[in-house]
Amino acid sequence: MPYQHIEVTPIAGALGAEIGGIDLSRELDDATFDEVRHAFHENLVIFFRDQILTPAQHRAFARRFGELDIHPFAAGLDGFPEVMPVIKEATDRAGNFGGTWHSDVTFYEKPALGSILYALDVPPHGGDTMFANMYMAYDALSDGMKLMLDGMTALHDASRVYGAANSRATDRQEKGSQSMKIRTGVDAEKVVEHPVVRTHPATGRKGLFVNHNFTSGFKGWTEAESAPLLEYLYEHSVRPEFTCRFRWQPKSIAFWDNRCTQHFALNDYQGHRREMHRVTVTGDRPV
Ligand code: SIN
Repeated sequence: MPYQHIEVTPIAGALGAEIGGIDLSRELDDATFDEVRHAFHENLVIFFRDQILTPAQHRAFARRFGELDIHPFAAGLDGFPEVMPVIKEATDRAGNFGGTWHSDVTFYEKPALGSILYALDVPPHGGDTMFANMYMAYDALSDGMKLMLDGMTALHDASRVYGAANSRATDRQEKGSQSMKIRTGVDAEKVVEHPVVRTHPATGRKGLFVNHNFTSGFKGWTEAESAPLLEYLYEHSVRPEFTCRFRWQPKSIAFWDNRCTQHFALNDYQGHRREMHRVTVTGDRPV
């Protein structure tokens, strides 16, 4: 599609494009919005630079794409519960939020369409975010593996990250993390089922839909049977040629399609502060 209202510059072979010629603090006209949405579907994650957004403007841009989520375990801003601060203080020695490959909130029956992350404070070096293309991961599998996975269902829950015991959130609290208000609870143990291979509702393309944070196994398989195949799929999904890496600047934005990507926030900036705001758009039930 030739773009008439925005500039679209891919940043890698697999996925990711920077969008120029746009001010997201204003309400976009329909033609510009359609091009942004097209670029989002075509590139899977889109980036914007030098955007000056209040929490209300951030929320308003996200709202054009659908209903907004309020994260059940991580607190939002006062007065803006849909805007979730993602913070790591310079003094924080614990792990960072999002520091493993994952897709967001796949423990919901209707996981996120996507998340829009806005950088307020970034370290002088490090703190990049990586993204992986889950269509490419699926396409690169053998016909035999595709045939098996196409008929399979995966189980997802939030207990590894937000469960009351042995979760990463508990671990963070024990190590003295002050950066984010994260609660744990037994509600993290609720299990939902999703197809292992989902078809994107807008593009019609198939992608792998399992992730290390929230997928616990395959329906009808034991944990021991599930683990080796899941490990293989996790490793396969993030082969370097399926990924891109985004270098943040203050006022940058990343908007990823949670239905066909995974992401990973690098934790390589000890002693420096990083603060982002995330707004997540609700998606539909994977099929
Ligand atoms: C997240 O996983 O939502 C956080 C990503 C990041 O901070 O780069």
